[in-house]
Amino acid sequence: MNFQYILVEPRYEQHIALIRLNRPKELNALCLELMAEVRDALKTLDADEEVRAIILTGNERAFAAGADIKQMAGKTAIDMLLIDQFTTWDTIKKIKKPIIAAVSGFALGGGNELVMHCDMVVASETAMFGQPEIKIGVMPGAGGTQRLTRVVGKVNAMEMVLTGKFITAERAYELGLVNKVVPVELYLEEAVKLARDVAQQSPLAIRLAKEAVLKAYDSPLSEGLEFERKNFYLLFATEDQKEGMAAFVEKRAPIFQGK
Ligand code: CAA
Repeated sequence: MNFQYILVEPRYEQHIALIRLNRPKELNALCLELMAEVRDALKTLDADEEVRAIILTGNERAFAAGADIKQMAGKTAIDMLLIDQFTTWDTIKKIKKPIIAAVSGFALGGGNELVMHCDMVVASETAMFGQPEIKIGVMPGAGGTQRLTRVVGKVNAMEMVLTGKFITAERAYELGLVNKVVPVELYLEEAVKLARDVAQQSPLAIRLAKEAVLKAYDSPLSEGLEFERKNFYLLFATEDQKEGMAAFVEKRAPIFQGK
């Protein structure tokens, strides 16, 4: 997979793929082309049977400093409407495999919104999260006001969105935005460990479980519970369920085939 703005390693480790945002001079600003590449890479990895978990990362200085302000600066409302950049984000939202963000440095604006499109987040102690769009006369557009509020609650979301101030990794951890904060030299390694823990499970169970957890953000409790129940029953049609339960009874490690 050859791209201009990202580096992709589909076989970073057994069952684990890695996507690295790679526009370091621009702090990985998310130009339209970069986002299209992320979308295409994720779609390809989602269809790749060998891949069971995907890590999305940047570099030590920046995960991503937001949408590309220089690319947007001269645009009109109609330009933005016709560019329709959020269709790309909608595709990312629908990726079925688990995505783990490994974040160091800036995760701002669209960068933080991209982090919130991921399923789990490992942050370095140096990571800074924020929605600073207000400082350039706009507001979040890739889900920031909605996803952030659901995770951190109204007053915390208001503070971030209305002041544009950044929060530290430690604060992001307290607010439930990240799973783990580790020293900067370990953030990728820790994300890989988390990916390994996911990749050794049944990929079908992982897929249906991810779908069900995401449903909790999007539906009333009764509907989410119904959805969960159907996915739970469906897993009894898999060989992995037979293998997983047999392995428990036989006191051995299961070998999941994704069937
Ligand atoms: N878009 C385009 N270029 C960006 C950028 C962005 N979002 N963020 C940084 N850059 C560029 C800078 O212009 C600079 O390029 P030049 O060397 O050519 O001038 C380079 O990256 C390095 O940046 P700085 O010199 O500014 O680095 P710094 O360490 O002094 O500051 C920073 C770092 C605080 C992150 C600062 O760059 C900054 O505030 N960036 C913008 C953050 C922002 O407002 N993001 C939200 C964008 S809007 C959005 O994301 C909308 C949405 O919801 C989808």
